[in-house]
Amino acid sequence: MNSPVKVAVTGAAGQIGYSLLFRIASGALLGPDTPVELRLLEITPALKALEGVVMELDDCAFPTLAKVEIGDDATKVFDGVNHALLVGARPRGPGMERGDLLEANGGIFAPQGKALNDVAADDIRVTVTGNPANTNALIAMSNAPDIPTERFSALTRLDHNRAISQLAAKLGVPVTEIRRMTIWGNHSATQYPDLFHAEVSGQNAAEAVGDQEWLANTFIPTVAKRGAAIIEARGASSAASAASATIDHARTWVEGTAEGDWVSMAVRSDGSYGVPEGLVSSFPVTVKDGRWEIVQGLEIDEFSRGKIDASVAELDEERKAVTELGLLG
Ligand code: NAI
Repeated sequence: MNSPVKVAVTGAAGQIGYSLLFRIASGALLGPDTPVELRLLEITPALKALEGVVMELDDCAFPTLAKVEIGDDATKVFDGVNHALLVGARPRGPGMERGDLLEANGGIFAPQGKALNDVAADDIRVTVTGNPANTNALIAMSNAPDIPTERFSALTRLDHNRAISQLAAKLGVPVTEIRRMTIWGNHSATQYPDLFHAEVSGQNAAEAVGDQEWLANTFIPTVAKRGAAIIEARGASSAASAASATIDHARTWVEGTAEGDWVSMAVRSDGSYGVPEGLVSSFPVTVKDGRWEIVQGLEIDEFSRGKIDASVAELDEERKAVTELGLLG
């Protein structure tokens, strides 16, 4: 057995937390040979509920779960952590404008970025799931000047997985036949799931579909609005699938991408594909030895260009709003 890896989860008493913690504790993130120490952050009123979740974790007797610590003080909970999965966020309440939402989340992600900066382990990797995920990641990153910017990312893997699953269903193939899926831009309704660079059994996915009408008017909106469809059906937002995607994302960051494949991750733009430098935007990335790289050299046609630009424009507006609110460190 290796020594324990410390994994922090925020919003641990929430819906996603209830799926995520048990998967991590059972070895789904780091494998069967690496013990995990869970560090769980919640707001004070949710600590009692979190104690109940910890009782259930105890009751699973997971061989890979070395220790669980809980608390409401980020500086204590994040001390020495290797992974931070930032799930807890402020949902949009009735009558809340987008600016209010960004401000409320800035009040969470700026101090959490500072706390990570002060106390996390040198190899810290931060995954932001809590919405608005891209801009929350930007806020945390900019408040953590001593942590390399490439250690911050936001989750678009759920959108990526949804896109794979929709395409597989359309073509009647297993999901394992699909490679090189890409989500571009923001984790929001403006995101662009791209079939022009994806492959199905080695064939170009857009050609395999051969139906631009389906691609533009069914596939893209189905993926982009899947979250709303789940709320409509389930009466609650996606939680188990979001937890699963969070694990996929963090695990790929550790294990790397398969040869010849890539995944979607929202990471700090270096200006690739005309995405303004510094925005946290989703790209196709490969990962090797714990480091991601944006896939270069993909040809972007006019259709894709328009879709990417629209989503990136939204990210740019969000950045302007949080800059004006003084949330970027
Ligand atoms: P939830 O409301 O069930 O749980 C959120 C938890 O965060 C609550 O227990 C709350 O007490 C906690 N929290 C709030 N402020 C906190 C703080 N400052 N520190 C620590 N904990 C804090 O929500 P759920 O369903 O678990 O979703 C969490 C977030 O994930 C939401 O923002 C949701 O929109 C987002 N999400 C993102 C997805 C993605 O693909 N990126 C997919 C699905 C959800």
